[in-house]
Amino acid sequence: MSPWMPQIEDRKGPRYIAIADAIGDAIKDGSLKENQRLPTHRDLAYDLGVTVGTVSRAYGEAVRRGYVVGEVGRGTYVKPDDGAGNPFHIPYDTNPDVFDFSLNFPAEGERIENLRRSLMVIAQDPGLGALMRYQSEQGMEHHRQSFAKWAASHNTPHDADRIVVSNGVQHAMTLSLMALARSGDTLLCEEYTYPGIKTLASQLGLKVNGVAMDEDGLIPEKLEAAIIQTGARLLYCMPNYQNPTSIVMPLERRKEIAAIAEKYGVWIIEDDIYGFLHEAPQTLTPFAKILPDQTFYLNGASKCVSPGIRVGFVLAPKDKVKTVATCMRLSNWMAAPMNVEVVSRWIEDGTIYDMMDWHREEAIRRQEVVFENLPGQDIKSTKRCYHSWMHLPQPWTSDMFCMRARERDVSILPASVFYTGKATAQNAVRLCYGAPPNLENVEEGMKRLGQLIGEEIHAFHSVM
Ligand SMILES: Cc1ncc(COP(=O)(O)O)c(C=O)c1O
Repeated sequence: MSPWMPQIEDRKGPRYIAIADAIGDAIKDGSLKENQRLPTHRDLAYDLGVTVGTVSRAYGEAVRRGYVVGEVGRGTYVKPDDGAGNPFHIPYDTNPDVFDFSLNFPAEGERIENLRRSLMVIAQDPGLGALMRYQSEQGMEHHRQSFAKWAASHNTPHDADRIVVSNGVQHAMTLSLMALARSGDTLLCEEYTYPGIKTLASQLGLKVNGVAMDEDGLIPEKLEAAIIQTGARLLYCMPNYQNPTSIVMPLERRKEIAAIAEKYGVWIIEDDIYGFLHEAPQTLTPFAKILPDQTFYLNGASKCVSPGIRVGFVLAPKDKVKTVATCMRLSNWMAAPMNVEVVSRWIEDGTIYDMMDWHREEAIRRQEVVFENLPGQDIKSTKRCYHSWMHLPQPWTSDMFCMRARERDVSILPASVFYTGKATAQNAVRLCYGAPPNLENVEEGMKRLGQLIGEEIHAFHSVM
């Protein structure tokens, strides 16, 4: 093979930059291949009519950009494409040997294609410049209009003036707690809850108090007792596809909980991030509908679109909107308008609802694989959910089970991660099956868990 030689005559700027650019272009167009050796400094300097120092700087720049690796005594080689040079590379995404059921990610679907298409359209829009400016802390008017429609499609009151756009639901939670709580206050929540609220609340100096649940979610009598006992005026909860248990709270229970909140003047922070999984979200009844003046309704795109888009919102009670908006201004000034624009267009043209439809079907497909491969196990899961709650048989403890699963490259989380009560957490684990790249990966991971459960029981009984 004749040695590769860069063409730099037509390139502008310093010569060492021109050489580094030429190396990058040659890798892109395939004229330089993975692991191919570049000419020596001296040879290249001679052929290009530049100094050896210029070539050294050029190769140094190419190393810095991640195009090549230089090894003393061996020369300079084109770096193999392990994905690590790609700024979007995230190692766990590309490791097919790990079966990750620990995080509640949605499956990918067509979001990348949709994003590509929308970015191209937005790029040509004459109004693009407006997205680059500071905006009102509440969010741009047309964005709030779109989010109000989205919220209303989940049966909340339709009111764009009550919307504050946020950078995701974790941020919406932060805004709500900033608006409502002071250090030392008590936050009530379901006794098994989303870990993000636990850490956020403790960071803000709040006491977290878990309220007992049954198969319909929060138990009203226990909630009332906790309010009386702690004096709490704040409740965070997830009536739809509760994380981690996947429970959807029945209407009657919602009414009972709302009645108690109303009686004691308790604010409800209602996290509806999984509500879209319902076959008809407009038929659900959020607390925001039953008790609009005391409910902060939160929703966002992380589960129905993608976590990377970082878009969410708070639908706040009328007289709290300004406070939430102020918290937005001092924490983040405003939600990133570019991302919000993408999601807003998807609400307006229906793309987001198509994505939700797809997720509902995909969640069923994945759920079936879970049940098929863990036959006879005690798995609680509402239909069409990406997460399930599995009770373990004796003699397993959930911590030990997660540890042993990890040895088999399967990642899951034990009940203790979600527990906020004062007793011992249930002997259970959460299985999240949205993150794996495909159904085969879900199947293999679940098979490994099934085998693990069986093997240990067998070993245990043979010792007995
Ligand atoms: C119940 C719940 N709320 C909020 C979040 C975080 O959402 P976001 O990524 O929009 O901040 C999660 C993420 O797992 C979640 O499960």
